[in-house]
Amino acid sequence: MKTSTIAHLKNDKIQNDFLPLQGTEYVEFYVGNAKQAAHYYKTAFGFQSLAYAGPETGLKDKASYVLRQNKLTFVLTTPLQKGNEIADHINKHGDGVKILALKVDDAKNAWKETTKRGGRSYMEPLTLKDEFGEVVMSGIHTYGETVHLFIERKNYRGAFMPGYRKWESAYNPPETGLLYVDHCVGNVGWNQMNKWVKFYEEVMGFRNILSFDDKDISTEYSALMSKVMSNGNGYVKFPINEPAEGKKKSQVEEYLDFYNGEGCQHIAIATNNIINTVTQLKDRGIEFLKIPASYYADVLDRVGHIDEDLKPLSELGILIDRDNEGYLLQIFSKPVEDRPTLFFEIIQRKGAQSFGKGNFKALFEAIEWEQAERGNL
Ligand code: FE2
Repeated sequence: MKTSTIAHLKNDKIQNDFLPLQGTEYVEFYVGNAKQAAHYYKTAFGFQSLAYAGPETGLKDKASYVLRQNKLTFVLTTPLQKGNEIADHINKHGDGVKILALKVDDAKNAWKETTKRGGRSYMEPLTLKDEFGEVVMSGIHTYGETVHLFIERKNYRGAFMPGYRKWESAYNPPETGLLYVDHCVGNVGWNQMNKWVKFYEEVMGFRNILSFDDKDISTEYSALMSKVMSNGNGYVKFPINEPAEGKKKSQVEEYLDFYNGEGCQHIAIATNNIINTVTQLKDRGIEFLKIPASYYADVLDRVGHIDEDLKPLSELGILIDRDNEGYLLQIFSKPVEDRPTLFFEIIQRKGAQSFGKGNFKALFEAIEWEQAERGNL
């Protein structure tokens, strides 16, 4: 899509936006052991301690650790008892993303406008207050058991939100240059992609800005289809993947089998120095997909001049792609739990607003190699 077309869509959209979003507020994960997960995200990814809620703050059934790095906020929540919604979620899905929370100016209106358009309510508008002010939140269901919360915090000055206390820790590993959520990808079931495209269009006022079919995204063995949904100002982008028929099992199908349903496949995090960021992440034990050396033999013929030296990119396994607005650098972690479900992408955009279509083949071959190792191809 040409820049002028995107600009036109943005202008058109901003004027009619019934759900103005200011970006991703936080991502909440339901995990089996939030204390240990918090240590992992601090140690390996360089997140900083921000806030905590649990028995010490009056909660009986769960504990949550809030971590932050620049504009990126993760909440790690674990159940303290069996038989609650969080425990059931983990029992079914393993560790995974429960909430993609979006920052709004008016959470009551966000709920009203989305539920009026067919969104299924998860939480009616709720006002939480403490001595630092108030937060208004509401929410709707999206694919699988995933939820979008709308968070309005313009009248709040505390660390995170009412119910949480500031978490000060003596253990503060340095940051790794992670900045904000670039996009979050959902994996949905067979023939479900267009249903969820329609949901984001009709219920949330998003637009389909890019589409990839199984001819774009197929290797010798497996295939998938993808449509990228974006809100009006482009701050929030949700690509939706669906498996497609191939000779062998699609990576999306493997995810659906192990997650026991639809859910968030990956979160792409922006950096403005991918070589530094990935070097640090690797040093701290994060594992990335291996890209064959042959990828780098002709990559510059495909993408043209880039500012970076190719050597560190090839040593780290960072992929490069170009569209008509510029280029991007990206890399994909291995799944961050034992189930082959959630993983992270690290992305540096240098003009390009696309998603690395030119890398799909190399990327998916790397994923399939891992899938075969697990006996799931
Ligand atoms: Fe991505």
